[in-house]
Amino acid sequence: MGDRLVDTHGRVHRDLRISLTDRCSLRCTYCMPEQGNEWLARSSILSTDEIVEVAEAAAHLGIRTFRLTGGEPLLRRDIVDVVHRIARIEGPDGRVEVAMTTNGISLADKLPALIEAGLTRLNISIDTIDRQKFADLTRRDRFDDVLEGIAAAAASELRPLKLNAVAMRGVNDDELADLVQFAMDVGAQLRFIEQMPLDAGHTWDRTTMVTREEILEKLGERWQLDPVPGRGGAPAEKWRIDGGPHEVGVIASVTAPFCGACDRLRLTADGQFRNCLFSNAEYDLTGVLRDTAASVAPIERAAAIEALLRSCVHGKLPGHAINDPSFLQPARGMNAIGG
Ligand code: 5AD
Ligand code: SF4
Repeated sequence: MGDRLVDTHGRVHRDLRISLTDRCSLRCTYCMPEQGNEWLARSSILSTDEIVEVAEAAAHLGIRTFRLTGGEPLLRRDIVDVVHRIARIEGPDGRVEVAMTTNGISLADKLPALIEAGLTRLNISIDTIDRQKFADLTRRDRFDDVLEGIAAAAASELRPLKLNAVAMRGVNDDELADLVQFAMDVGAQLRFIEQMPLDAGHTWDRTTMVTREEILEKLGERWQLDPVPGRGGAPAEKWRIDGGPHEVGVIASVTAPFCGACDRLRLTADGQFRNCLFSNAEYDLTGVLRDTAASVAPIERAAAIEALLRSCVHGKLPGHAINDPSFLQPARGMNAIGG
């Protein structure tokens, strides 16, 4: 059994988010510029063999959940194969879990094959249920495709099904309760995410962001909310709606950071380990995976990947510094880090 991934603050890491591509079928204004986004070179994107090799090494060190992200992970042509191969990895605690965060487009088509391949959990992002606002926010007229994806997920056996919405002033702050109702109607759980300073356009503004407190206040006008105990390391705090069984979550990354319980690491589509969304340090795997590929035995490659992952974990700071005046936004946008 490999040693676990414990950092210098005692946090054990069990979750690796793998960005499969920086491409996306939408152009959400808070995530990407309309034009002129600098895409990763295709040749730099990890192959499926490379991703699986990294995932195996990570599982050996105790990573139990792999969350596939993007950009939009369903744009990866071999997505079913990626899920299939990762879902078969055994770690020290048994079979790993494979989850996905998607915008829902083309999910309806692909979901049966993804479930068959071993996908166990799904988060779908939907920031508004107003067709026109959706088109404005995402700069694409794909609202019906997203609804179709959500309907397919709702009809599947994947539970809990989570819908994610970034709360934004002047965009969806007037429909927060409607979003929750929509989620309840399809048997999903809505989770609001406080907007973080990760947008490619650098337009984030602390003074106008919609906070956890405001979200709760707005929902409180429609329902009675009771906190659900036992959050553990989960980023979302949860509330029971009118006594249950429905719940709503809030991920308050800015006003109530949960870094102390963070168990997450990231792998970018171009082969960089990261220990935090907000870190500027990257641990480059391409040397191990590519430059020495021909000359090094697989067992030595695995050891080198593990060593890099360990140094990534070792370098993890106790928390992000969004609330520090000297905070510098990471150079990559969200689509290039992975959600
Ligand atoms: N702040 C908070 N959430 C964000 N997402 C993308 N950019 C931001 C941001 N700046 C969300 C997406 C998706 C998930 C992957 O991350 O809406 O739900
Ligand atoms: Fe695509 Fe997600 Fe970014 Fe929107 S937030 S552009 S869906 S990666």
